[in-house]
Amino acid sequence: MGAPAKTIWAGSTQLAPVPAVLVGTGDGRLHPWNVLTVAWAGTLASAPPVVGIGVRRSRFSFGQLEKLGAFTVNLPSADMAETVDYCGVVSGRDTDKFAVRHLTALPASKVTAPVVAECPLSLECRVIRSVDLGSHVLFLGQVEAVQVTSALIDAKGHLDLARANLLAYAHGNYYSLGECLGHFGYSVRKQG
Ligand SMILES: Cc1cc2nc3c(=O)[nH]c(=O)nc-3n(C[C@H](O)[C@H](O)[C@H](O)COP(=O)(O)O)c2cc1C
Repeated sequence: MGAPAKTIWAGSTQLAPVPAVLVGTGDGRLHPWNVLTVAWAGTLASAPPVVGIGVRRSRFSFGQLEKLGAFTVNLPSADMAETVDYCGVVSGRDTDKFAVRHLTALPASKVTAPVVAECPLSLECRVIRSVDLGSHVLFLGQVEAVQVTSALIDAKGHLDLARANLLAYAHGNYYSLGECLGHFGYSVRKQG
């Protein structure tokens, strides 16, 4: 069997799978706590830890990000898919998404933005730079603290992420993660 035949398309947003995360903004005082769904998100550096999120100027959250320079990245579990979708189609301009979706907003430890308590993991981020990319602005956030649901930490202090049942997103559809196929470096370790 030869290499598969290819069709060439114009450049577009085909990268998949990606996370679909709940990004928290606001300060819970002058600027109401809000949450929006973001799929254009990723880890970009480890020391210091930096994540990036791409946000359109039209989002209610955009003004909060610009004014307050802080956000949280909350990783939802697969059973939160419907809530994630809702937070991605309804605006905080006219709706309290926390209230409608029965989400619990907790104060973060280092930033003004809220932590979504129902999410197994939350990254508290301080905006260190923003980059105009055309349709979206890339906000680079240094991760100042991470909140983990304690029940996911085992007796040795290790995070058991498999039990978090994280949500993934690919080309318009939500997925739960499938079976674990191996671990970092297993390809060479098993040969050795
Ligand atoms: C699965 C999914 C992924 C999304 N990803 C992004 C994204 O990466 N960037 C963005 O600006 N909007 C994204 N959106 C759209 C916003 O979440 C949506 O417009 C939201 O209602 C904005 O909320 P806000 O007005 O309260 O800020 C996504 C929506 C969905 C459903």
